[in-house]
Amino acid sequence: MSLLEDLNWRYATKKMNGERIPADKLDYILEAARLAPSSSGLQPYKVIVISDPALLERVKGVALNQSQVTDCSHLLVFASWDGYSEERISRVFNYTMDERGLPHHTMADYKQTLLGMYEPLGTEWHAHHAAKQSYISFAMAIAAAAEQRVDATPIEGFLPDKLDELLQLTGTGYRSTVLLALGYRHETGDWLAPMKKVRTPKENFVTEMTLADAAPLT
Ligand SMILES: Cc1cc2nc3c(=O)[nH]c(=O)nc-3n(C[C@H](O)[C@H](O)[C@H](O)COP(=O)(O)O)c2cc1C
Repeated sequence: MSLLEDLNWRYATKKMNGERIPADKLDYILEAARLAPSSSGLQPYKVIVISDPALLERVKGVALNQSQVTDCSHLLVFASWDGYSEERISRVFNYTMDERGLPHHTMADYKQTLLGMYEPLGTEWHAHHAAKQSYISFAMAIAAAAEQRVDATPIEGFLPDKLDELLQLTGTGYRSTVLLALGYRHETGDWLAPMKKVRTPKENFVTEMTLADAAPLT
């Protein structure tokens, strides 16, 4: 199977059948999410896994009552940092240096450059930037699920503040960004399953440029 076959197989499943996905497949999907690249390697996000039906029922209440939230096997909640700080960046960089057997000061100059860049941009920019990183991890999980022939519904239709309260994330430095319901499609009950996959035609999606298309030097 190729990645393109996997991506053509998958679709945003609207109705799942409640069947549980095996632990090894869940681990595989989470590992793909963990291996995602992130800006400066900060991985300013984490994944919360929920399979408790009672908690899923409460999550559904803040997720537009979408049935996949309770019909899925596992719900992944991607949550990202609410801002960058010297302490958070140092923690990650020091861990990286420890893992590589290098002294902590190896990345000191880069850390100062990064902090100098981020500091004036403000906390909302930081939070937005961190959230964007979490979506890369989320996309890896979507692709990995497809490869494992596990259905997945990406879900942005929820109230992040309410979910943060419910999961007691508020005040922890993390904010929920996006959800991924994992499970198996309801073979007969999902109206979207037989529909054609529709995407922007390649000629409108891809633009090639040369120097002739660029703004002239000033
Ligand atoms: C970030 C994001 C948020 C989405 N939110 C929802 C959602 O809340 N509920 C839902 O049913 N589908 C949701 N979708 C699914 C999209 O509608 C779907 O991916 C898109 O229409 C393309 O169709 P396909 O994924 O079936 O190929 C979301 C997709 C993405 C990437």
